[in-house]
Amino acid sequence: MSANITSVLKESRVFPPSNEFVGHTLVNEAERHRLCEWAASDFEGFWAAQAESLHWFYKWDKVLDWSNAPHAKWFTGGLINASYNCLDRHLTTARKNKAAIIWEGEPGDTKTLTYQQLHHQVCKFANGLKQLGIQKGDRVTIYMPMTPEAAIAMLACARIGAVHSVIFGGFSAEAVADRNNDAKAKLVITADIGWRRGNVIPLKQNVDAALEKSPTVEKVIVFNRARNTGVHMKPGRDIWWHDLMSDVSANCPAEHLDSEHPLFILYTSGSTGKPKGVLHTTGGYMLGASLTHKWVFDIKDDDVYWCTADVGWVTGHSYIVYGPLANGSTVVMYEGAPNHPKEDRFWDIVEKYRVTVLYTAPTAIRAFIKWGDEHPKKHDLSSLRLLGSVGEPINPEAWMWYHEVIGGGRCPIVDTWWQTETGAIMIAPLPGAVPTKPGSATKPLPGIFAEVVDKEGKVVPANSGGFLVVKKPWPSMMRTIYGDDQRFKDTYWSNYPGIYFTADGARQDEDGYIWVMGRVDDVLNVSGHRLSTMEVESALVNHPKVAEAAVVGRPDDLKGEAICCFVTLKQGNAPSDSLKADLKAHVAKEIGALARPDEIKFTDTLPKTRSGKIMRRLLRDIAANREGAQDTTTLEDYGVLAKLRADEE
Ligand code: PRX
Repeated sequence: MSANITSVLKESRVFPPSNEFVGHTLVNEAERHRLCEWAASDFEGFWAAQAESLHWFYKWDKVLDWSNAPHAKWFTGGLINASYNCLDRHLTTARKNKAAIIWEGEPGDTKTLTYQQLHHQVCKFANGLKQLGIQKGDRVTIYMPMTPEAAIAMLACARIGAVHSVIFGGFSAEAVADRNNDAKAKLVITADIGWRRGNVIPLKQNVDAALEKSPTVEKVIVFNRARNTGVHMKPGRDIWWHDLMSDVSANCPAEHLDSEHPLFILYTSGSTGKPKGVLHTTGGYMLGASLTHKWVFDIKDDDVYWCTADVGWVTGHSYIVYGPLANGSTVVMYEGAPNHPKEDRFWDIVEKYRVTVLYTAPTAIRAFIKWGDEHPKKHDLSSLRLLGSVGEPINPEAWMWYHEVIGGGRCPIVDTWWQTETGAIMIAPLPGAVPTKPGSATKPLPGIFAEVVDKEGKVVPANSGGFLVVKKPWPSMMRTIYGDDQRFKDTYWSNYPGIYFTADGARQDEDGYIWVMGRVDDVLNVSGHRLSTMEVESALVNHPKVAEAAVVGRPDDLKGEAICCFVTLKQGNAPSDSLKADLKAHVAKEIGALARPDEIKFTDTLPKTRSGKIMRRLLRDIAANREGAQDTTTLEDYGVLAKLRADEE
């Protein structure tokens, strides 16, 4: 659970929708009420009407098939294409020459693509994919820096019905190999390098290492981000992006795909060591992403919208690429770190492009607070009209700072709760309709039936803690875990049959506002990134000197949670600072820099129950320096606890 519980419990401030929004918003209070009632009384009719906002080659036969629950089929028989919805349908409108993507690289280079230009590039690249033998249903790994080419690659896959699996550029070669193998990817699209805080991320080199263990991959397309980096190109396997694009036609009609055709796989951490390939399909996902983008961000045609996530995460999929482009928005995309070359980089971008809607994460907001108000204050942020937050609970202090210092006290904040699995925002205020309370994602969106329940599935009384669940299916819900349907059923649908289990703890206040507290499983939220404690443990025990490891989260002011590892060494190995450094580097190499442990504690034994289960709650208390108020009667070895505490002093 998160660190913010106490401050959140005391929170009582309420911010009603501002005058700028009431009356000018897409969804006002009365309209929200009407939509909620409609969804409650005519669930399928409600969703069918919303789906009219997309372009269908053939409108569905049936809105929802839930007969094989928990496997939902939405808009069955419908024919649709995500890339067509994001591009082609704007070309016959005034949006044709509107900026689709305004991109800025970390070194300061820039590029703008209109909808027409983006369409041209996507069509050519899609033909390039076909030329390399990629067909409908083939899996394609995308391991790219934050450049427009990442979006082009995704949309080109979608255009021909190939299923993309985007891997965040911060993941290691090992992680890329695991995901290639799990998805049986046929092709990898990457770049020579990526830029991060002035440093080079050797993407192609990582791919080369990954491909030694990825037998299914036949070809690699390499985008030349930095030129002259001298990467090795393997003849017959590797091809430069620009070479592929030099000789292909720009005529590539979008495939008419079944509404349930897979659009992408996105790996995310669960409570075991093996990441889950969350599978999303086309029609329902596109509806969820585009509708929520329009509603929650109150998107207008003249908005300049910037979501600061990476396309490697679900936020980048739904709110940089598919949602905003389907709505014909102008999207700002930035490649690098928020503090490069200086701590005002974000505010420089907001000022330069006159950003109107900004969507970022609490971990970034906490870093900005730490860096000082002078950085945003140097810039004219008056273009901003709406601010968003995602990825973890936002503490009221950070919310207030965001509201006042960035939003000048005038911009509503939409705190959006959702997950990789949900595909789109589920709980969030609609800015012209719902008063906000700092730290609460407020209420479920129309059509979403989320509740807080106890172990038996009974709704808990106001202000009591419970589990967040979703009682009805929704269009952008995940369809399965790729290659492991049993895990899909066990993880999300076995606690409460027919009801989706989010694995988040929450409470609902007397006004029905939902306050999400954090995960109730062994998933950490480190700087808004999901990591399983077991993944880090498996990486640690892979090290030749490690006998056993237990990993827990510790509250951290900046990262939300820090990674704290308890490690026992194999006989004959002595604890040392250099071994600590070695183990941290080892985990970063196995998973990626985002998983680098913050703390390693050596111990002779780990506290276990008589049945041999590691007592994580105790370790969490030790990691957080809390006095344990917990029941220790099931502890196998009381001495271990005393010793771990003593080592703490
Ligand atoms: O614990 C919740 C937290 O992030 C988890 C989902 O992580 P991921 O699949 O990586 O998706 C992140 C971006 C959608 C959730 O189970 N979380 C996400 N948004 C919020 C949040 N917790 C509280 N408030 C939020 N707004």
